[in-house]
Amino acid sequence: MDTQTRIAKVDRLRADFPLLGEWDLAYLDNAATTQKPVQVLEAVKHYYEAENANPLRGVYALSELATERYEEARALTAELLGAARPEEIVFTRNATESLNLLAYSYGSAHLKEGDEVIVSALEHHSNFLPWKAAAERAGAKLIQLPCTPEGELTAEALSKVLSERTKIVAMTQVSNVMGRKNDLRPLIDMAHAAGAVTVVDGAQSVPHMQVNVRELDTDFLVFSGHKMMAPMGIGALYGKYELLDAMPPFLTGGEMIETVHWDRIRYAQVPTRFEAGTVNAGGAVGLGAAIRYIRDEVGFDFIEAQESALVKIVMDGLSQMEGITVIGSQKAEDHKGIVTFMVDDVHPHDVASILSTEKVAIRAGHHCAQPLMDFLGVKSTCRVSFAFYNTEEEAEAFLRALGKVRGLMGYGK
Ligand SMILES: Cc1ncc(COP(=O)(O)O)c(C=O)c1O
Repeated sequence: MDTQTRIAKVDRLRADFPLLGEWDLAYLDNAATTQKPVQVLEAVKHYYEAENANPLRGVYALSELATERYEEARALTAELLGAARPEEIVFTRNATESLNLLAYSYGSAHLKEGDEVIVSALEHHSNFLPWKAAAERAGAKLIQLPCTPEGELTAEALSKVLSERTKIVAMTQVSNVMGRKNDLRPLIDMAHAAGAVTVVDGAQSVPHMQVNVRELDTDFLVFSGHKMMAPMGIGALYGKYELLDAMPPFLTGGEMIETVHWDRIRYAQVPTRFEAGTVNAGGAVGLGAAIRYIRDEVGFDFIEAQESALVKIVMDGLSQMEGITVIGSQKAEDHKGIVTFMVDDVHPHDVASILSTEKVAIRAGHHCAQPLMDFLGVKSTCRVSFAFYNTEEEAEAFLRALGKVRGLMGYGK
């Protein structure tokens, strides 16, 4: 796609996002959450206006329609990820809940004293704390898989920590700090050869690139809808059917059973077994609409092209500024829409506050990845993160605003 066509497409797509027209702001915190297009907002509104009932329960037409909409969203999610069947998709609130579900359910069924769980140094707290707790409950050991200074997870590093004691290997596909895409297939193959299962955190990859769980051959993968144009409160856990099928429930209550008697219980089939209580059908409809929107109106080729162009502008600009340190790889092509950096002498919160006065929204802090901050030897950093609807003008506005920071704080340019 040539540059002109790409820029024209961004302009056209931006019109789908009402919030972007409401605010005079360069919104560059998309790794935290994205804005929502009218196609998603309308789908959720239509569901509640015309199709809402408690799905999976009623035998009347309206409930059956709600069930149909909910299951349609599951089929769309399965198609997005290339899952073998819709039943391999469990709806959850978000990536965090998916990982807790796994750590409790798979962890309690399979971890025992002396086992080992490998978690990479890159992980968000959501893919660290549930495994730490699961390991502690079982008397298993948590082992860190280090990354390179560029934020890469390598087979060589995994070979040093993997053993026949390893039961689970949890890794992120794209770190929310380093922004680097990890080529996980070789690591997944190694984990399988050692008899371990793999858990991939797709929270920052699924929204930005075509992820195919069968090509990855991962046992589990999680993501959040709200980071990919869908409403908050809906996310998913993908699991290979035979693994999910062998797992005990996480939450118990309504809907997740076949029969309940005082003295005996038969749990429902997968995925219903893992969706206790009334489900977030409106959220699932919104996720389905977001997946359709990305598939039919946007396209992952376009997302990758636009986000790479913006990262290139930012990386080139940062390399020409004094007092800036980019975390991780110094090559633009290694950053999937995310660039994390520090400004000499200026606290990241001051950087983000000054940028806010310049109408640029970026993130400052530890990005819920404190073990990674420790690994990198830093306390907190600034992060700019793009979505396909961001423009080159916004990337330039960010650089202009950042160029003022050190001067404003009394450190020259
Ligand atoms: C890599 C990664 N994993 C997991 C999460 C947790 O996502 P959520 O808060 O939607 O559960 C995030 C959120 O920022 C993330 O960036």
